[in-house]
Amino acid sequence: MTQTSAILSSAVHSEPVTDGSRFVRACLRQPVDRTPVWFLRQAGRYMPEYMAVRKHHTLLEICRTPDVAAEVTITAAERLGVDAAIIFADLLLPFTPMGLDFEFVNGEGPVVHQPVRTREQIEALRTDRTDDLRYVARAIEKVAKHFAPPRADGDQLGIIGFCGAPFTLASYMIEGGSSRNYIETKKIMYGHRSSWQLLTEKLVTVLVDYAAQQVEAGADVIQIFDSWAGALAVNDYREYVLPSTKELVQRVQALGIPVIYFGVDTASLLSTMRETGADVLGLDWRVPLAEGWRLAGEYTAVQGNLDPIALFAPKDVLHSRVKAVLDAAANRNGHIFNLGHGIVPGTPVENVIAVAKWVRELSARSEKPL
Ligand code: CP3
Repeated sequence: MTQTSAILSSAVHSEPVTDGSRFVRACLRQPVDRTPVWFLRQAGRYMPEYMAVRKHHTLLEICRTPDVAAEVTITAAERLGVDAAIIFADLLLPFTPMGLDFEFVNGEGPVVHQPVRTREQIEALRTDRTDDLRYVARAIEKVAKHFAPPRADGDQLGIIGFCGAPFTLASYMIEGGSSRNYIETKKIMYGHRSSWQLLTEKLVTVLVDYAAQQVEAGADVIQIFDSWAGALAVNDYREYVLPSTKELVQRVQALGIPVIYFGVDTASLLSTMRETGADVLGLDWRVPLAEGWRLAGEYTAVQGNLDPIALFAPKDVLHSRVKAVLDAAANRNGHIFNLGHGIVPGTPVENVIAVAKWVRELSARSEKPL
């Protein structure tokens, strides 16, 4: 091969178009060759491959069996053609080593059998058994090994570990399940300040250990889900939730990875959530992306923000919504394409695949990244 053809062939075939992972680069607001894309709850009940596994295993069995959790994670990422794989697990897994029993009741979501309502119950929560969660790290190791070879375009698929945030996890512990008004949670928050503080401190202790296990196992990024923070007035968020959440974000960042901090219905909270120092803020679909990014601040990356229900729209409408999100981001460094919240059951898989493809095509930068 002549030198010129070697250079040409390396330019065409093997030269990495990004350094490492475009997903991780976007989290750090570095230039990318195109916008990375993945989907919240990309492995879930809308996907026949997942339902085939669910026929033989409960949700918790899948989470606790590293081979199966890894398989579900890998299958979803490969089927969709996305740039990141989120480990298959659940927000509530740390409850077990803390001493709280729960189960998933079909059609109702999670149920905690003895909700935490008293000081004594908070004091009894254990923070010394996080090792019991190592099955999640084992699954991450398997996913990381599978995705270790760079892909055909030279990119390294990103691996996302995750955990809940103190408010959202405390709300499941206290309410005993999903909630509309968070009455019991807010009663403790407003009325029993030192108990609330003890509970959130205990959660931070467990979550930092748990995140460290995931990072050691190969997670490139940790996403912290504060799904229900939008239930809070901004002053209450600042007073009761920001301090422990900021501590969690910063201690997880100290593990050496970027942190994505995600919530729903957070337009009024974004400028305060940004004070956690998270590298990336999740945006839901209710806030226009450009406006959400303004509130998140120019030094923060953003992830979002297509309405997950737009995946049920006719193809031309869906395409226009994808383009609108990309147009609003305008190829600025630090945008990760995603939904505003998770994919819901019944979503047509082919539409999810089409969105990933459109993002790849529409966001390709004409010039090489700097
Ligand atoms: O692909 C992925 O996104 C990874 C898997 C994942 C699950 N749960 C598996 C799951 C992730 C990231 C989670 C996080 C999680 N768990 C959150 C935060 C995400 C969000 O939506 O804001 C929350 C709030 C939970 C708690 C939880 N788990 C609820 C409220 C429910 C019931 C909701 C429902 O849709 O029924 C679950 C169950 C659950 N966790 C399912 C999956 C795929 C669906 C149930 C099943 O398979 O039986």
